Amino acid sequence: MVKEIKKIEDSAGSEIPTAKNREELEELRIKFLGREKGALTLILRSLKTLPDADKKRVGEEANKLRGVIEGLFAARTEELKRTETESILKKEWLDVTRPGKKGPHGHLHPVTLVRREVEKIFASMGFGVVEGPEVETEWYNFDALNIPVDHPARDMVDTFFLKNPKGKNQSPKLLLRTHTSPVQIRYMQKHNSPLRIIVPGRVYRYEATDASHDIQFQQVEGLMVDKNVSVANFKGVVLEFFKKLFGMNVEIRLRPSFFPFTEPSFEIDISCIACNKKGCSICKKTGWLEVMGAGMVHPKVFEAAGYAPGNQQGFAFGFGLDRVTMMKYKIPDIRLFHSGDIRFLKQF
Ligand code: PHE
Repeated sequence: MVKEIKKIEDSAGSEIPTAKNREELEELRIKFLGREKGALTLILRSLKTLPDADKKRVGEEANKLRGVIEGLFAARTEELKRTETESILKKEWLDVTRPGKKGPHGHLHPVTLVRREVEKIFASMGFGVVEGPEVETEWYNFDALNIPVDHPARDMVDTFFLKNPKGKNQSPKLLLRTHTSPVQIRYMQKHNSPLRIIVPGRVYRYEATDASHDIQFQQVEGLMVDKNVSVANFKGVVLEFFKKLFGMNVEIRLRPSFFPFTEPSFEIDISCIACNKKGCSICKKTGWLEVMGAGMVHPKVFEAAGYAPGNQQGFAFGFGLDRVTMMKYKIPDIRLFHSGDIRFLKQF
């Protein structure tokens, strides 16, 4: 029996400390201390068969061994727990001092960038920023601006007309505005002179597209009305604007032109920002770039807006925001603006 105990002590001493994991350890626990067939349990159970003299001695030995084995289990359990935690820590290690990953940054569209700049420059000259609806009536887009029914601009070819939900030939006839000028009327109906506004916004034209034409683009309308606003005021404001926008000493030139809603009307050129009037491919060797239409507000326009005749005068202008953006950033094709090409947009 004592031999037996010694054997158990030896195998427990070598097996328990080398158990690889908790399952193995549990198996060993059953092997040595299991209530049914544990090696030590069997010994303790058989004590009663021994003669009294041996009972005490062997019993003491067996109980001592029980303490030893329990100590071995406790030590190994502790060890296994520690290595388990260590491996979890190693696997799930996280450097909380590392800087976070930055999400991808969006970019403002180049036309938006220039639009904001335009608004800032005009604001510095006392102009308010006003908007108007993109779906217009024929009256605001044409009639009120002195564009007669037989004017070519009213032809279906230039305008996107909308289907009237009430059926054909119902008035008012709705369309996508072809320019921002209808907002001149809308604003003057609600506000008296003196006034100074710009109107940035989207406009639509039913045209074939190419590198310099798209069916939708943005315009900036300008309107300044007071008792004695003159062409000289116009030149001052617009020259200041282009100098600030392009950050250089540009010159402007006025050429006679025609718009039904201005009289006189002009086409405005600026000295070429690429070659400074020397002549290059951008200005097609002319030294000048055509940038806006403008003129003195036609009396019929004041009348349509409800202003009393002869009480005021003003200038109006309109230019393409996309076109100016193309000049500023040397963009060769207007269609890039709506291409959705991330590589293009990422440059701004
Ligand atoms: N509405 C004109 C256009 O779209 C531009 C313009 C605006 C001209 C105001 C004169 C005055 O071409």
